[in-house]
Parts: sequence; structure tokens; C-alpha cells
Amino acid sequence: MTERESSDAMKSFIYASRAQRVVFGPGSLAGLAAELDALGLRRALVLCTPPQRAQAERVSALLGAERVAGIFDQAVMHVPIEIARQAQQTARELGADCAVAVGGGSTIGLGKAIALDSGLPVIAVPTTYAGSEMTPIYGITEAGLKKTGKDDRVLPRSVVYDPELSLSLPVTMSVTSGINAIAHAAEGLYSVEGNPIMDLMAQEGIRALAQALPAIHAGAGGEDLLQARGDALYGAWLCGTVLGSVGMALHHKLCHTLGGSFNLPHAEVHTVVLPQALAYNAAAAPQAMARIAAALGAPDAAAGVFDLAHTLGAPTALRDIGMHEEDLDRACDIALQTPYPNPRPLERVALRALLQDAYEGKRPHPSGATIRPR
Ligand SMILES: NC(=O)c1ccc[n+]([C@@H]2O[C@H](COP(=O)([O-])OP(=O)(O)OC[C@H]3O[C@@H](n4cnc5c(N)ncnc54)[C@H](O)[C@@H]3O)[C@@H](O)[C@H]2O)c1
Repeated sequence: MTERESSDAMKSFIYASRAQRVVFGPGSLAGLAAELDALGLRRALVLCTPPQRAQAERVSALLGAERVAGIFDQAVMHVPIEIARQAQQTARELGADCAVAVGGGSTIGLGKAIALDSGLPVIAVPTTYAGSEMTPIYGITEAGLKKTGKDDRVLPRSVVYDPELSLSLPVTMSVTSGINAIAHAAEGLYSVEGNPIMDLMAQEGIRALAQALPAIHAGAGGEDLLQARGDALYGAWLCGTVLGSVGMALHHKLCHTLGGSFNLPHAEVHTVVLPQALAYNAAAAPQAMARIAAALGAPDAAAGVFDLAHTLGAPTALRDIGMHEEDLDRACDIALQTPYPNPRPLERVALRALLQDAYEGKRPHPSGATIRPR
């Protein structure tokens, strides 16, 4: 058991809140202009990826021509420095006084890169469940290396969550993005920096997503679908808040390694690795595991996450998302460098076994028995 879990007495903790507005609900996009006005912002550079150009145009139309400096539609995964520089220059040339990021973690990450360079405030309109909008964490990729850091300047000032914008997120991407969010909450529950407020948010965030994702996958229609999308986005908000508030552990370290050094897709990597990372930590963080399992409505945390992914058609094996078996040793070496604090110490042999299980898509079993689905 970890120190955090070892005593029944009142635990000591530090809790810090952040100044951020959250506007939530179907149709809340209509309130975006009022958010800018309330912050005294007059000319927004609207950011998006190329495929989300139409959504960015809709946002621009809602803001009105007088509040829009322009649209920059070149956001891509992992914020390459060249794209960040182009966006920074566009913001300067057009005289923008803020960035409105309409999209997932990649687009919000581009907004953060502009904020880091110029101090321009970011307003986020999230359309996935990744949670970047609730964190002061940024990442910029230069010469193939992603550098991350923390800076309060990049934390979006206002976040407008409108579930109608997530209706177009493809179902499989919704599932993996939702499990990416669950990973933030799961690691928050055993974080050395955890606190009771974040524990409540984490458990509620996992519960909301674990209920919403099957409904989205089942193809709920009409009002039911909007309800499920709203529940998922609510869960993503809570899980993102946990990510932005307390430090992460082994799971996030492994995902940064696999995403950064082996170019595997972000949400899918989280989906595959989370069951294995939870199994690795299970004996060292039993109270956190019990809370995760309860929130999932499953008997076991690690197997519960695996089953959620498997049932909803998401990938469960690294070999299915582009990892090569011969790279597992190198991934293990990189993950062991500058490790994040973790409930169970990192042991090379056990970590290598974890990676093998993730590669093969082994279902973790509470008894420790090996179950290979294929
Ligand atoms: N700094 C942080 O705190 C933090 C947190 C989480 C993720 N991230 C970063 O975010 C990136 C991943 O973000 P992501 O998983 O949200 O994916 P993403 O932003 O890369 O989006 C994936 C794809 O889905 C499309 N898309 C997004 N929303 C859509 C919608 N509603 N309808 C249709 N298509 C839509 C995007 O245009 C893109 O093509 C990674 O680089 C990761 O490192 C950062």
C-alpha cells in the first residue's frame, strides 16, 4: 500500500484551485461571444484542424465578423514547432488579441503554444474528451522530440463545452478519447499529489464516462445521444481537471514514451496501456483500485477498463496500433528514464512484462492468471 493509502486517519493534502470559467451544456456555444466580451477580448484567431474547418467557420459566424481576426486551420497532432510559429505569426499579423481553439487536444495545444509565445489568452471549445483545456500543460515538438512543460499562461481562461459539437466525433474515436480521459482520473486517484476534491471528481468522471460510452457506441439516437454526449463531456471535464491538478504516474509516462518515441496515436495508446498499468499498480494502491472499479461498475479496475475497451470495439493491443515487438526493449529503457512517482516501484523485468502484455492485448485478471484473447 502507498503512503497515501496507508492510514485511516485524516490525510494531509494541498489543494489549489485555478481561475477558469466553464460554460457547459447543449447550445452553450451561443454564449461564446459573451465569454470574449466578459474577458474584454475583441479579435479572435480561431484555430482548428483542416477537417474541422466547417466547425471553426460556424464558431466564427456565431462570434460575428467584428470579433474574428481570422481562422488558422493547420493544427495537427503534437504541435510541431513550425506550425506553432506559423500560427504565432498569423496571430501577430492579424492583430489578434486571443485564440479560440475549436477542437481536441491538438488544436487546444496549438492555442497553448501561441499563449506561451505571446501571452495571448486562449478560449477553448473542446470537441474530444482529451482534457487539455483544463490543464496548464503544453507540448511542442521540435526535430521529432516533444518537449512538455507547465505554465499558467497557457491554461485556457474560459472553456465552452457544447456536446452538440462532439456529435460528429466518430464512435471509435469517442471510445478511445473517453478512455484517455478515464486514465487521467484513474492515475489521479493514486497520485502522490492527490486530494479529496480530486478523488471525488475522478470517481465521478470515470462513472460518467463508463455510462456514456456504451450508449454512444450503441448508437443511441436523438435526445438520448445528446444526453450521452453531454454525460461524456461532463466526465471529460472532471477527468481533465484532475489531470491539470495532480501529478500523473506510470501510465502517463508509458503513453508519453510510446506516443513520443514510437509515434503511436495518442488516445489509442492510452486505451491499450491503461488496463496493464492498473494491473501493475493494483497491489500497491488497493483503495484507488476499489474506487476505479466502483466507478466503472466492475469487480476489478484493470479488467474493467480492458472489458470496456474490448466490448466497445476499441483496440486492446499495441501490435494493432503500429507498435513493433522489437521496439519493446527500447520503450522499456526510455520509460525507466526520469520516471514519474508511482505507487509501485518501477522494476525492469515487471515493466517489460507489462509492455509485452500490452503488445499482445492480454486481459488482466484479478487472480493473476494469464488470459490471451487470441
Ligand atoms: N496538454 C494537455 O494537458 C493534454 C491533455 C490531453 C491531450 N493532449 C494532447 O492532445 C493531443 C491529442 O488530442 P485528441 O486526442 O483530442 O485528438 P486530436 O485533437 O488530435 O483530434 C483527433 C482528430 O479528430 C478530429 N476531431 C476532433 N473532434 C472532432 C469532432 N467533434 N468531430 C469530428 N472530428 C473531430 C480532429 O480534427 C483530428 O483530426 C495529443 O497531442 C496529446 O498529447 C494534451
